Amino acid sequence: MPTDAPSSAPTPSPTANAAVVVKDLTKTYQSGPNAVEALRGIDLTIERGEFVAVMGPSGSGKSTLMHILGALENATGGTVWIGGERITGLDDKRLTLLRRDAIGFIFQFFNLLPTLTAEENVMLPSMIAGEGAGKLRDHARELLDLVGLSERREHLPSQLSGGEQQRVSVARSLMRNPDLLLADEPTGNLDSKNAAAVLDMLRDVQAKAGHTILMVTHDATVASRASRVIFLRDGRIAGEVPGGDASRILEFFGSLEQD
Ligand SMILES: Nc1ncnc2c1ncn2[C@@H]1O[C@H](COP(=O)(O)OP(=O)(O)OP(=O)(O)O)[C@@H](O)[C@H]1O
Ligand SMILES: [Mg+2]
Repeated sequence: MPTDAPSSAPTPSPTANAAVVVKDLTKTYQSGPNAVEALRGIDLTIERGEFVAVMGPSGSGKSTLMHILGALENATGGTVWIGGERITGLDDKRLTLLRRDAIGFIFQFFNLLPTLTAEENVMLPSMIAGEGAGKLRDHARELLDLVGLSERREHLPSQLSGGEQQRVSVARSLMRNPDLLLADEPTGNLDSKNAAAVLDMLRDVQAKAGHTILMVTHDATVASRASRVIFLRDGRIAGEVPGGDASRILEFFGSLEQD
């Protein structure tokens, strides 16, 4: 993919098949008199069904990238297509639908509503979409079965372990069957056993249902489970390594932090 296209060139059409296409994406945060250039020209294509990990030092722009891809934040410049649809410049109504129907989120701190049971948390995205409760409950139960929590349906988040809460949030992210799953450090607060369980689950749903997954992680072993690993540094893509080999990923990551 060209990374040096002049910004005055007409925006090229992305391949219809790609899950995510990003062209010359920039994001500048203005905090008081200071401007922080969080993203400085990202070009990226992720094909449908890929499982891609994103690594990079703290502050390199990983979460900013995820928030923009998830239509949770606006870019300062550049263009983003999700599932062939150009989301840059869409109105709020369309963006809300996109977030609800096409994109699933898994966060580091689970983001479950504390007063709802596991089952209700899983049902929530579809309740908001206005679907009937009976059918939804059945679907939520299926998903809780899938993540191994059928016995915990009536538990509140405070009555679940961290690993269980994250599994509830994986189930919730699948409720609307989104094409794209965005996970920002989904295993960051889990021990290695629970991290492995959540990863197995993600890989499973990706293999079975063909979801596209983009996952931020600080952990080379976690990243090695992806099909490729993209590295960010200072708001730019610094390189890419295939998944599979944790020591190679660690080596690349180490070289970024030393420079
Ligand atoms: N709302 C904001 N206002 C101002 N600056 C911000 C804001 N959000 C992020 N930044 C800055 O943008 C840069 C990128 O932040 P980002 O959260 O994307 O990093 P990250 O790679 O996710 O880091 P970490 O690994 O610590 O989560 C940082 O310098 C950060 O301080
Ligand atoms: Mg982050």
